[in-house]
Amino acid sequence: MAVLDLTINGKTQKVDVDPSTPLLWVLRDHLNLVGTKYGCGIAQCGACTVHVNGSAIRSCSLPVSAVTDKEVTTIEGLSEEGDHPVQQAWIEHDVPQCGYCQAGQIMSAAALLKSNPNPSDEDINSAMNGNICRCGTYTRIKAAIKTAAKN
Ligand code: FES
Ligand code: FES
Repeated sequence: MAVLDLTINGKTQKVDVDPSTPLLWVLRDHLNLVGTKYGCGIAQCGACTVHVNGSAIRSCSLPVSAVTDKEVTTIEGLSEEGDHPVQQAWIEHDVPQCGYCQAGQIMSAAALLKSNPNPSDEDINSAMNGNICRCGTYTRIKAAIKTAAKN
């Protein structure tokens, strides 16, 4: 065990954990940030996507020790009021079905638009490729990303 300083959603806090613990477990079990979901645990589904220094990463496969000097943003911290342009577009297009994959989808989409404000269809396909949706909401996800890009 070790006491680590983490910066999550703009707030620095200490956690006492095994440094090899995946970031996802620290977020969910130690910090009660349960918006980030567990899907596969092996970086194959995207449900656990968060931002580390602005890039979309799979928190299930990243040891918490790798983020001690970095800024982590979860779905809870994407915007204070839940009104990030991607979240607004998600509502406009009524994207979610069961909702399980959607925090990860939104975090991947937000990271894409930050680095590429006008993505082509190909850019969207490539950035969202690793985010699986069992409910098949892909068409609405793509439409919402295009709407968010205009806002
Ligand atoms: S739970 Fe992390 S990619 Fe599936
Ligand atoms: S909305 Fe159900 S898994 Fe994506």
